[in-house]
Amino acid sequence: MEAREPQVVREAIMGLGEARDRAPRLEGVATGVEGLDELFFAIEFKEGRPHRKPLGGVPLGAVVNITGTPDTGKSLMAEQFAVRQAADGQKVCLVTVETPAAFVSTALEQRARAMGFDFSKIEKNIILLDAASYTRLREDMPTLLDTLAYIYRTYRVKRTIIDSVTGLYEAREMLARSVVRALYSFCKKWYQTALFISQKRSSHEELSAEAAGGYAVGHIVDCTMVLSKELILSERAAQIWKQEVGSIVRLFRIDGCRLCGHDTRIHLLEIDELGLVHIGPPLGDVRGRR
Ligand SMILES: Nc1ncnc2c1ncn2[C@@H]1O[C@H](COP(=O)(O)OP(=O)(O)OP(=O)(O)O)[C@@H](O)[C@H]1O
Ligand SMILES: [Mg+2]
Repeated sequence: MEAREPQVVREAIMGLGEARDRAPRLEGVATGVEGLDELFFAIEFKEGRPHRKPLGGVPLGAVVNITGTPDTGKSLMAEQFAVRQAADGQKVCLVTVETPAAFVSTALEQRARAMGFDFSKIEKNIILLDAASYTRLREDMPTLLDTLAYIYRTYRVKRTIIDSVTGLYEAREMLARSVVRALYSFCKKWYQTALFISQKRSSHEELSAEAAGGYAVGHIVDCTMVLSKELILSERAAQIWKQEVGSIVRLFRIDGCRLCGHDTRIHLLEIDELGLVHIGPPLGDVRGRR
């Protein structure tokens, strides 16, 4: 029998110092969602004692999964992030998987107006990739990644949004992890701060990433945020939530973030009449006040 030649992947081996030199700085990237940026923090030591220092956004270079059942505000949050980053002068790539690009442009224009930004100043900073209209981008991962690499090189993009990753493994859910893993590794290689939207079908475990249509997608990404809504249908629910029967209570939670400290409480979430998402106070504070 022929002896096997050893195969060593030398480029995967490095000293800790070398790895550290390649790491992004721990700083926040503003999301454009009121009440969200303050929920992430770093720990600083002053005279040997640890202190919380707010990051002012999601950690730079993080791949963040925003998950939730339908109509919970995921796309609105993604649009606010795109508008805010574009207004800050960043180039943003928004991969639209569900809604054709023309419709997304209308939504982004509405978000920009509601946030008080001049759309004509930010439109050149947002590059849309229409995977909703071009099946190949949804079904052939190497083509999607080649197209993204082309966009990153051409426009010098450092912010990526995919709405949604679930649409990239529709009817092939056993591939969910490998699809998300490929996108995660790709975003890391290109130093993207990224939002992956994923859809959650089950109403079980409402406020965890568990049962998110993405089969343990939460284990792959750096950070997960979960959105949910409660319909107040009975007198009992109305009493518990201190709301009228027939109303909706929207909730938000950061379900984990590997890269920095974060608030772990359940917060109220509001979508105002302009279609802007706001993260409200923690549920405990609201209940206690009443
Ligand atoms: N322009 C707007 N003005 C006011 N409210 C809006 C506006 N756009 C959306 N909404 C409200 O926000 C809700 C959430 O919308 P969004 O599109 O963000 O949901 P989603 O979580 O992305 O849902 P899906 O999983 O179906 O894509 C809508 O159902 C609607 O009630
Ligand atoms: Mg959506």
